[in-house]
Amino acid sequence: MVRKVLGCTVVAGAFWGDEGKGKVVSYLALKDKVNVCVRTGSVNAAHTVHFKGKRYALHMVPSTFVYAKCRLLIGPGANVHVPQFMKEVKETDVRQRIGVDRQASIIESRHSQVDKGDSHLKSLGTTGWGVGPAVQERAKRSAKLAKDVPELKGFLADVAAEVNAAIDADQTVVLEGTQGLMLSLYHGSYPYVTSRDTSASAVCSESGVGPSRVDKVLVVYKAFITRVGTGGLPGELSKKEALRRGWFEKAAGTGRERRSAPFDFDLARKVAKIHGATEAALTKLDILYPSCKSATNYDQLPEEAIDFIAKIEEATGVAVSIVGTGPDAMDIIDRRTSL
Ligand code: IMP
Ligand code: MG
Repeated sequence: MVRKVLGCTVVAGAFWGDEGKGKVVSYLALKDKVNVCVRTGSVNAAHTVHFKGKRYALHMVPSTFVYAKCRLLIGPGANVHVPQFMKEVKETDVRQRIGVDRQASIIESRHSQVDKGDSHLKSLGTTGWGVGPAVQERAKRSAKLAKDVPELKGFLADVAAEVNAAIDADQTVVLEGTQGLMLSLYHGSYPYVTSRDTSASAVCSESGVGPSRVDKVLVVYKAFITRVGTGGLPGELSKKEALRRGWFEKAAGTGRERRSAPFDFDLARKVAKIHGATEAALTKLDILYPSCKSATNYDQLPEEAIDFIAKIEEATGVAVSIVGTGPDAMDIIDRRTSL
């Protein structure tokens, strides 16, 4: 029997998104030679991947595209923006290895118009892509599905069947979640949330993978917290202070300014519990501790950085097994073998 080494990993965001899931997933793709990846969610999320000197902001294509042998899938629970999908397929040159589930629903420009024109949605600070209105239509059971779109004909797949077959064959599988738990329709800061559940369980559900078939749940934390759109952010810094600390960011997708706050250990504990995290990734450690930049070995970290990681592990009860030290996919300290 083939020994199951890496199995099926769910990657899920901790707070209000933008933790660096794209970077972590692209690293796993290259390091673990991920065979199959399912992306969930929709076009409102942008996953940033830096690879071979190029920067990608992916709204549709799974971040594992960097590993040329990975089969890329978009799950039945996802919402596909066809022009954006086509654009990214071209940009990443993955036409031959990407599939879209027949039952994924379609988001169109008219949804974006409703999103941008609705005063309630505007007050929530939505991304304006129209995901809320598209999901509303899906719940009403009047949505257009991928199987109804002629341009997607050559891409159609049965994602649940493919991903479960990969799991049965002991292949390495990643289910790529989007956004963060605090943007979850159920667990987040309602009503200032997105239109779907973003928990690890929901990532499984959107992909068609049952909970007993998952081996690891990797929660992705960033060394500080950011949030775009409206809604509360405990400990929020002024823009001036964020700039001073080097925490000021702009959204990869919409270009909006991100608000920022220090890491929240209590919230990190709650998030780890609800995701059912078995391990954690911590990104942008080099922003907090510049001497960590591009470190690939734990022993290279200054004592304060090691203390910070220990404090997260103590608060969450979860080991920080992957540490991001720079933007490139390979700027990572991988502690999975040494823990
Ligand atoms: P919607 O998902 O476009 O409806 O926006 C609802 C809320 O979720 C707004 O506060 C958005 O800024 C936020 N949001 C949606 N997607 C992302 C994301 O990928 N990163 C960060 N915030 C997001
Ligand atoms: Mg993002």
